[in-house]
Amino acid sequence: MRVLSGIQPTGRFHWGNYFGAIQQYISLQTNEQAFYFIADLHALTSVRDRKMLEEHSWNAAVDLLALGLNPDHATLFRQSDVPEVTELMWLLMTVTQFSLLEKCHSYKDKVAKGIAPDAGLFTYPVLMAADILLYDSDVVPVGADQIQHLEVTRDIAGRFNSTYGGEFLHLPNARVLDEGAKVPGTDGEKMSKSYGNTIEIFEADKPLRKKIMSIKTDSTPMEAPKNPDTCSVFTLYKLFATPDQQSALADRYRAGGMGYGEAKQALLDAALTYFAAARTKRNELVANSDYVQDVLKAGAKRARAKGQEVLQRVRDACGVGQRRG
Ligand code: ADP
Ligand code: TRP
Repeated sequence: MRVLSGIQPTGRFHWGNYFGAIQQYISLQTNEQAFYFIADLHALTSVRDRKMLEEHSWNAAVDLLALGLNPDHATLFRQSDVPEVTELMWLLMTVTQFSLLEKCHSYKDKVAKGIAPDAGLFTYPVLMAADILLYDSDVVPVGADQIQHLEVTRDIAGRFNSTYGGEFLHLPNARVLDEGAKVPGTDGEKMSKSYGNTIEIFEADKPLRKKIMSIKTDSTPMEAPKNPDTCSVFTLYKLFATPDQQSALADRYRAGGMGYGEAKQALLDAALTYFAAARTKRNELVANSDYVQDVLKAGAKRARAKGQEVLQRVRDACGVGQRRG
């Protein structure tokens, strides 16, 4: 079964990305044929700085490998290294209803925020459909906000198949990622780049401490008992700590006499321990950039081989280009 997902390189990955998505991608890699890509073409709809985009794409690859993505199991590639995807996007666009795209939340939300939409933002779901359909994907793990894009993908694939009278494109299914209770950010809201409340996985020690110490807490005095279940510090601590450690800290909250500073220190220690091996691995990868380059090259080669096969099938179906055979 082919599992495929993409992640946009719009910044450095944060704890929400890890627990809400990356950890689950990695756990799927052993039993399934996983294709994971860095969606740099999609990121172009918001990152308009060459250096930034290159840097984010590179860091995304290094971070994923450091966190345990294993290129012997999963195929990791950069979206733009498979040019077939943009040709497929055009072929799909010719069977995509304008009204279907007008209904997409991703587009409507941006317009509602006053952003003047360009054609890239409007057709973003068609590129996403091409990403998925190009590799005959069966299962697409995505966050809840992307389910509509999977429905759009199925709609487009169905329309293509019925227009040309055959099962040329394979209809995928969404697998909704378990986002848990959504990882809270430093202000207690959902952690997200767009809210400026993120804690990055590979943040350097000093700013990491600073961010953790800035997590919003209530004003219960030091001596008073505290409720761990309504505290973001404790919610985050649970992601990193063993059940025994969790109940020990919860007891300290309830007993009173512990300030939030102490809980934050416990969170910092737990997070550093949790990501210690990944940090070491990351340093090794940074020192060996040729290896990362080779992984991306080999990934693109594998993805392209599959993509070329599907694209040829689609080209033949609609009568463009040289016919196969
Ligand atoms: P951001 O909101 O920071 O821009 P993205 O939308 O790029 O993050 O996130 C990519 C994926 O990471 C999402 O589809 C979702 O599965 C996961 N994710 C992001 N933030 C969180 C969060 N706070 N809690 C749980 N999962 C999250
Ligand atoms: N739109 C997705 C997001 O923002 C990223 C993405 C691009 C993707 N292409 C994809 C996800 C294909 C799954 C499959 O999270």
